[in-house]
Formats: sequence, C-alpha cells, structure tokens
Amino acid sequence: MSNQKIALVTGATSGIGLEIAGGLIRQGFTVLGVGRRQSALNQIQEQFPEHFVPQLADLSDLEQVKALAKSYPFERLDVLIHNAGGANGSRQVGPQGFELTWVVNYLSPFLLTKLLEPQLRKSSSARIIHLASTAHYHGKLDWGNLQAERGYFILKAYAQSKLAQVMHTLYLSKKWNASKDPKIYAVHPGVVKTHIGSKNSAGWMGAIWNAITLFKGISVQEGADNSLWLSTLPEDQLPASGSYFHRRKITKPSAAARNEADTTRLFQETEELLERFLL
Ligand SMILES: NC(=O)c1ccc[n+]([C@@H]2O[C@H](COP(=O)([O-])OP(=O)(O)OC[C@H]3O[C@@H](n4cnc5c(N)ncnc54)[C@H](OP(=O)(O)O)[C@@H]3O)[C@@H](O)[C@H]2O)c1
Repeated sequence: MSNQKIALVTGATSGIGLEIAGGLIRQGFTVLGVGRRQSALNQIQEQFPEHFVPQLADLSDLEQVKALAKSYPFERLDVLIHNAGGANGSRQVGPQGFELTWVVNYLSPFLLTKLLEPQLRKSSSARIIHLASTAHYHGKLDWGNLQAERGYFILKAYAQSKLAQVMHTLYLSKKWNASKDPKIYAVHPGVVKTHIGSKNSAGWMGAIWNAITLFKGISVQEGADNSLWLSTLPEDQLPASGSYFHRRKITKPSAAARNEADTTRLFQETEELLERFLL
C-alpha cells in the first residue's frame, strides 16, 4: 500500500464518477468510492475486489460527511475528486435543512476537503479536483437566499452551486500557495451522456436533458478524461493550482468566480455555517 496512490471519488456509483473510479484503478490506484447506494457499491467492489474500497454516505447529510472523513481508513490521500452532484426539479432539503443542490454540490465538498486536509498534506503530490460546469458562467450568488428559500428554479440552483464550487477552488488555491500545499482544480467535463438532468427532475426538464445528451452528449469516457489526466500527471507537469479546465485546456472562469471580495465572503460565511460540523 505504501507506494500505491490513493484516491477518494465521490459519486462513484454512476456516470462520470464510475468511469473515473474504474480508470484510476486501471492505472494502479486504490480508490475509496463514495456512494449513497450500497448495492451499487457492492457491484463495483465485485468488479475490482482488490482496489475498490466502498464507502456508503449520503452527501446531503453533513453528519455523514463528517463520519466519512472520521472513518477514512488510510494515512494519506493523494487525489480527492469531488464528483457527486445533482440537479433537482423541485426544492428539497437535506437532514440539516440545507437545500439539496447547495449541500451536495457545494457544502459537502467544502466540508470534506476541510476534514481530509491532514491526510492530503501527507501526500507528496496531493490534488483536489472539482467536477464543475460551464453552468457556473450563468451562476449568480443570491446573497441572503443561498438556500433558495425564495424563487427556486432548478437551473438557477445548479448554476449557483457550480459557481460556488469554482469560487472555492480559486479561493483555496490562493490560500494554499506554498509548493508543498495540495493543488486544487475545477473541471468542466463537457455535456456528458448521463442521467444527471433527468434522475431528479421529472417532466419536461428531464426530457429536454435526455434529448440534448442523446444528440449532443459525449461519452462518460470522454467526460472522465480531464479528471483522470489531472489525477495522474507527474508532479513536475502539474498546471498552476486554481486552474479551471475544459478538455485539458485552461479556460478563464466567469468574472463572478474571479471576484475576490465575493469569494472571500463566501468562504468565511461557509466556514461559519459549517463550524458545528468541524468540531
Ligand atoms: N453530465 C454532464 O453533462 C455534466 C456537465 C457538467 C458537469 N457535470 C458534473 O459532473 C459530476 C458528475 O455528474 P454525472 O453527469 O456523472 O451525473 P450522475 O451520473 O447523476 O452521477 C452523479 C453521482 O453523484 C451521486 N450523488 C448524487 N447525490 C448524492 C448524494 N446525496 N450522496 C451521495 N452521492 C450522490 C450519484 O449517486 P447515484 O448513483 O446514487 O445517483 C452519482 O454517483 C456532477 O458534479 C455534475 O454536476 C456533469
């Protein structure tokens, strides 16, 4: 185990995350795969009995995120991939009352990164990868209504959560700027043929998503490529921390994502919000 690279992949049970987990294992990693469905995790473990470590956790529940970090079984973590995500047709809340899109796509990765920082720092070349989206270009932080208590709309909530993910990437990369600090990236995987746009939104929105991906979508293999590439690049070839990618090319994130005052405010407010889970 000592020389073997270790990755944690959230949302490893379907879509892009499943492909990333398999791709990393095929390249010699041990993967701790996080999912909310035990049966799906068991199936993956049957396929990779030696190198897949299943971990059940519903990431809409921040107590489960905390438990996940506490039970992390290795000393070191080389690659942390925040892939789990969703878009929800109607406003729902998780066990602590946080809006589902916001907690799964933004708060839970934020908390997991914070709690696993000690293990990341034990790696000689740690990297964190956020599966973000071009949706962040349409995102706007609705200060005072980040949980979308007023005026919920699926695309607005999704875009806001993806914007927050990119802002978190940029903020941490500036905070962690010493050479030995973990590198942190955000990636747009492309429009990928998965069920993300239809599994939690029945009706016309799900139908539109299925039609778009049927005709325009790329495969999960293509969608996983950028994340696999960043996970496996040798240390001396790693791009600058804080970079946002599409198809292995560094791309400029939105002006909103680059707004330093908003990014700092979001980071501080999120830390205050999550304080009770950090104890
Ligand atoms: N597909 C695209 O075109 C596209 C474009 C841009 C960005 N992205 C991003 O890429 C990432 C992966 O998306 P995908 O397209 O592969 O979607 P997907 O097939 O629906 O996969 C999402 C993964 O997240 C898991 N997940 C969702 N809610 C969870 C929760 N509460 N607790 C634990 N796991 C949870 C899902 O679990 P289940 O297997 O149980 O459903 C699944 O494994 C997302 O962050 C998404 O925003 C996708």
